[in-house]
Amino acid sequence: MTATVVHTIETAEDANKKAVHDDMISPRFYTTDFAAMDRISVEPVRAEWDRMMAEYEGDNNHDHFQRDEAFAGEVAAGMASLSPEMRQEFMDFLVSSLTSEFSGCVLYNEIRKNVTNPDIKQLMTYLARDESRHAGFINLSLRDFNLGIDLGNLKRTKKYTFFKPKYIYYATYLSEKIGYARYITIFRQLEKHPEKRFHPIFRWFELWCNDEFRHGESFALIMRANPKLLSGGNKLWIRFFLLAVYATMYVRDHTRPMLHEAMGLDSSEYDYQVFRITTEITKQVFPLALDTDHPDFRRGLERLFALSQAMAKAKARGGVVGKLQQGVCAVKAAATFARLYLMPVIQQDLSPQVRMEPAW
Ligand SMILES: [Fe+2]
Ligand SMILES: [Fe+2]
Repeated sequence: MTATVVHTIETAEDANKKAVHDDMISPRFYTTDFAAMDRISVEPVRAEWDRMMAEYEGDNNHDHFQRDEAFAGEVAAGMASLSPEMRQEFMDFLVSSLTSEFSGCVLYNEIRKNVTNPDIKQLMTYLARDESRHAGFINLSLRDFNLGIDLGNLKRTKKYTFFKPKYIYYATYLSEKIGYARYITIFRQLEKHPEKRFHPIFRWFELWCNDEFRHGESFALIMRANPKLLSGGNKLWIRFFLLAVYATMYVRDHTRPMLHEAMGLDSSEYDYQVFRITTEITKQVFPLALDTDHPDFRRGLERLFALSQAMAKAKARGGVVGKLQQGVCAVKAAATFARLYLMPVIQQDLSPQVRMEPAW
């Protein structure tokens, strides 16, 4: 909506602008073709589907997203230990995490309201319930610093991107699974090094990421029930979404390296660990995986990050020269993305049973 670029988050206004702002790496809001989604069938995976719905209904995280008594004290002690730059990165992390949780909440809610297919409607009710808890829980932490996001306003003013249902399945499946892989990697690291846990919110990540894992399972079942989504020309789309999601995550994480450092993680190592976990999980649904440990792949991502930094500099410079430099960066980034896209992929056999356990 607004073209203002927010560099630092000092006030609630900055935080809200940051959440509304769209650029290459910020989380987006989506809408889709509800009538087409209505026609999807999950009959071929009915038994697994019903078991999953029973798990949602059981709602094992009903009481999880409540703060405990130690929370406020841990915030005070942890934040006092952060440098101003580090604090900025953490605020940026909270705002972008909140935006992506809320993006899921809005999309799932819109689908729920606009479809009549009982399976999809029921699923979306559960997904929206979980994401609304997640978004609300992060927002409480922003409010501790008077940086709360006005979710109603965000819903009204953020730009929506239209995705066909199949793109929604690929993209949300991946973002749920990658969300799981990110949260569990952070949780395991801080479990080993509790002294590096500078904010109590990370204590919630284990059960939190089990929600995300289950959300991903739902989209895996939908795709496995409709195998056309996973074959033929659609494989090219799967490749595209894998690369787009991985590349965006890599660039976003590398723009806030201190956050990972504070947890004792190196941004690159962390990202490749997340890619490896995600690839392992995608064997339940995608017939191919990206070769993320290949040196050319890594070089490509490094270059994309360098170009995004150069792009930001050019933007800040402004004027005709700045515009020209931005154009050059955009062309180079597109060429790098295309080279990464054309790299050989790893073929994988789909697991006979779709459902998987979150075992990382
Ligand atoms: Fe979530
Ligand atoms: Fe989720």
